[in-house]
Amino acid sequence: MDLHQKITELKKQKNAVILAHYYQVPEIQEVADYVGDSLGLSQKAAETDAEMIVFAGVHFMAETAKVLNPDKKVLLPDLMAGCSLADSCPPDAFRKLVEAHPDHVVITYVNCSAEVKALSHIICTSSNAEKIVNSVPKDVPIIFAPDKNLGKYIQKKTGRKMLLWDGACIVHEAFSMDKLLKLYKEHPGSKIIAHPESESHILETATYIGSTAGMIDYVKKHPAEKFIVATEAGILHKMQQEVPQAVLIPAPAEEDNTCACSECAFMKMNTLQKLYDCLLHETPQIEVSEEIRKKAILPIERMLELSK
Ligand code: 13P
Ligand code: SF4
Repeated sequence: MDLHQKITELKKQKNAVILAHYYQVPEIQEVADYVGDSLGLSQKAAETDAEMIVFAGVHFMAETAKVLNPDKKVLLPDLMAGCSLADSCPPDAFRKLVEAHPDHVVITYVNCSAEVKALSHIICTSSNAEKIVNSVPKDVPIIFAPDKNLGKYIQKKTGRKMLLWDGACIVHEAFSMDKLLKLYKEHPGSKIIAHPESESHILETATYIGSTAGMIDYVKKHPAEKFIVATEAGILHKMQQEVPQAVLIPAPAEEDNTCACSECAFMKMNTLQKLYDCLLHETPQIEVSEEIRKKAILPIERMLELSK
C-alpha cells in the first residue's frame, strides 16, 4: 500500500478527519477530507463528529480546532509549523495594548495564539473581517490585530479608523512590485488577484482581493481568463483542479527562489510521511490549558455566529 492508501485506512480505523489548508502540498490536499480557507476550516472543526482531528495546516489552526473540541485528540503533523503573523503578536505585549484601551472592541485575525484569542472580543478571518468590523457600532473604537495589511485594507473598505497591531505575514510581504509589473506586461489582459495580507501597493493592482476560498471562487466565475495569483503558491493546485482551463501564474517573490513564487515554509513543513506518522502514533498533539481555552472559545464562537 502507498502512503495515501495507508492514511485512508488509518483514518477510517481511528474515526479521524483530516482538515487541510489550501497552502498544503498537493499530496496532502488529495488525502484530506476537507480542504479550505481559515474560516471553512474553523467551521468544519466546530461541526465534526470524528473522534480525532488531524490538522494539515499551521499551529494556530490546530489550536483553534482544539479550543472548539477539548475532548478530541487534535494532531498537527509538525509542531514547528508556526506562522510569522501569530509570532508577531506576543500575548504579554498584546495584553498591555488591550489594557491600555479598555473602551476598544478587540478584533483579532485568527492567525494568532490561543492566548491572544483569549484577550480578544471577536475573531475574524480574511473572508469575514469586513462583516465582523461592520458588526461593531460605529461609535465604538476598535483594536485590530495582528495583521496590519489586512487591517489597512479593512479600514479602507469600511471607513473605520482602527488601532492596528504592527504584524505581517512574511510570505505576503515578499511579493515584488517590480517583478509583478514586468510579469503583467508580459501577460497583458491578465487579472491580478490578491490576498489581503499583501501590502497596499500590491492590493492596488488587483482586480479581486479576498481570502483563499474567495480567490478560488473568483477564478471559477471567470474560467476562461489568465490570472496572476498573489498569495501562497499552494493555492494553485486546487484552483487549477477547479478551473482546468484558466491560466494561472504565481505572483513573483522578491527573492529568486526555485519556484519563482511565494511559499510558506511553515505550511510546507507538513509532509505526507509526517501526516501518516502522526496519525499512526497519535502525536504530536495540541494542548490548550482549560483557563485559556474557556476565554479563547468566546471570540471564536462570536465569529462563527456572525458568519452564518
Ligand atoms: P485564508 O485561507 O483564510 O485566506 O488565510 C490565508 C493564510 O495566510 C492562512 O495562514
Ligand atoms: Fe502565517 Fe503567512 Fe504562512 Fe499564512 S502564509 S501561515 S499568514 S506565515
